[in-house]
This record gives sequence, C-alpha cells and structure tokens, in this order.
Amino acid sequence: MRIDVVTIFPEYLAPLDVSLVGKACAKGLLDVHLHQLRDWTYDVHKTVDDTPYGGGPGMVMKPEPWGLALDAVLEQGESAAAPVPRMIVPTPSGRPFTQDLAVELAEEPWLLFAPARYEGIDRRVLDEAATRMRVDEVSIGDYVLAGGEVAVLVMVEAVARLLPGVLGNAESHRDDSFAPGAMANLLEGPVYTKPAEWRGREVPPITVSGNHGAIARWRRDEALRRTSAHRPDLIGRIDPAAVDRKDRAL
Ligand code: ADE
Repeated sequence: MRIDVVTIFPEYLAPLDVSLVGKACAKGLLDVHLHQLRDWTYDVHKTVDDTPYGGGPGMVMKPEPWGLALDAVLEQGESAAAPVPRMIVPTPSGRPFTQDLAVELAEEPWLLFAPARYEGIDRRVLDEAATRMRVDEVSIGDYVLAGGEVAVLVMVEAVARLLPGVLGNAESHRDDSFAPGAMANLLEGPVYTKPAEWRGREVPPITVSGNHGAIARWRRDEALRRTSAHRPDLIGRIDPAAVDRKDRAL
C-alpha cells in the first residue's frame, strides 16, 4: 500500500518510522511519502493560511498550495499501484473512524491524507478533489485536536496492522474488539501471562485448565461483561445468534 501525507508538519509523522508501521515500511509492505505543503507556496513567508471570508475567529488554509500539492501527488499516479488515491481528510466534523472503515481502507492500494491545521481547508479544495478521486472526511473521535496529523497516525496504524504480512500472527486481529465475526461489537476481556501467581494474585484457574472450549466461553462471557460495563451502547448491536454459534462450535 502507498500512503501520501501532505502537511505543514511532516516531522509530526516521524513515529511512522517506528515499531509496527516502521517495520511494515522496511519490509516494503507500506510505502509512505510525506510532503511539506509549504513547498507549494511562492511568497517569502510561505503562507498557507488566511482570514476567513465572512469573518470569525481563526484562520483558514488557502486553496492554492493545497491545489498544487494535490496536483503533484496525483501526478505520481503513473508510477503508483493505482491511477488515483483515495483521499482522507481528518476533521472533527467527518464521519467516524471505525474498525469497519479501517478494514475498508486496508483494501485500498493508495491513500492520500490531507491533515489540516487552523480552522480547516478552504472548502473548494475538497470539492475540486472530489471530482478527481474519492474523498472522505473522517473524525477519530468527539474531541478537537490541534490539527489532523495525530489523527493520521491513528488511522495509518489501525490500517497498517490489517495489511497481510504486517502482524506476525495473522490471527492476532481476529478477536480484536470491533473485529467482524462472532465477537463483533464485543470488547476484548482481560488477558494474562506467566507467572501464574504474581504478588499473591493468581490467574483465573480456567485459563490454565487446558479446556479450550471452556476457555473460549469464559473469554466470551468476560467480553460481554466488559462491554456492558464500558460500552452499554454496543450491547444492542451484538448478534446473539453469532455469539451462540461460537458456543455451539466448541
Ligand atoms: N482534527 C482535529 N480534531 C480531529 C478529530 N477529532 N478527528 C480527526 N481530525 C481532527
């Protein structure tokens, strides 16, 4: 997968060189290209923002640098894995970023992220971009960050770990909270590792019972308990038949 990010803070995305995403890049599974938006400004101050039409607080990102930056990225289509990327614009007013959307994005050969600072990007940039490629405005949660770069880190990590070959064990994300399947919409329950006793606390005996059916049922019950405690809103979305199917399969 190819990922382009146009930003005034490419250094904010340095964590993409680290850990899971960094390793995916090193293995050639991910090809990340960071672009400095100011490279497409032509005044001495490299200005990327201006006051909003209609007044109001804050500044708006100017259309000209964004237009040229997107033109330049789209020109890469010749050499990229797809003719055009899918563009993702992080904004608190976007559609929610969910595991389903992460799964959908992980299927794309090419993503282009356009994180904004200030009050956002002049709307015409997104309207014009939408005539050339698919554009989604996406929010990572109901809070306001200082800019979209951290949201890009969140989305790239959630997508990258789904790419084939990125996680050591392909099963690792099968039981993720929010993963599709029997455990869909159930939060993952607690996990334990060795030693079996630590500071007088023992692991739940079932986990060392060797009874895989009973362990799976216990995990499901813990997941239900945690979901009702932390996310009661998800309980209604659980498919009881799927949960029972898992039980019968054991
Ligand atoms: N930019 C600022 N806040 C954001 C959020 N919650 N999600 C995505 N992008 C943002």
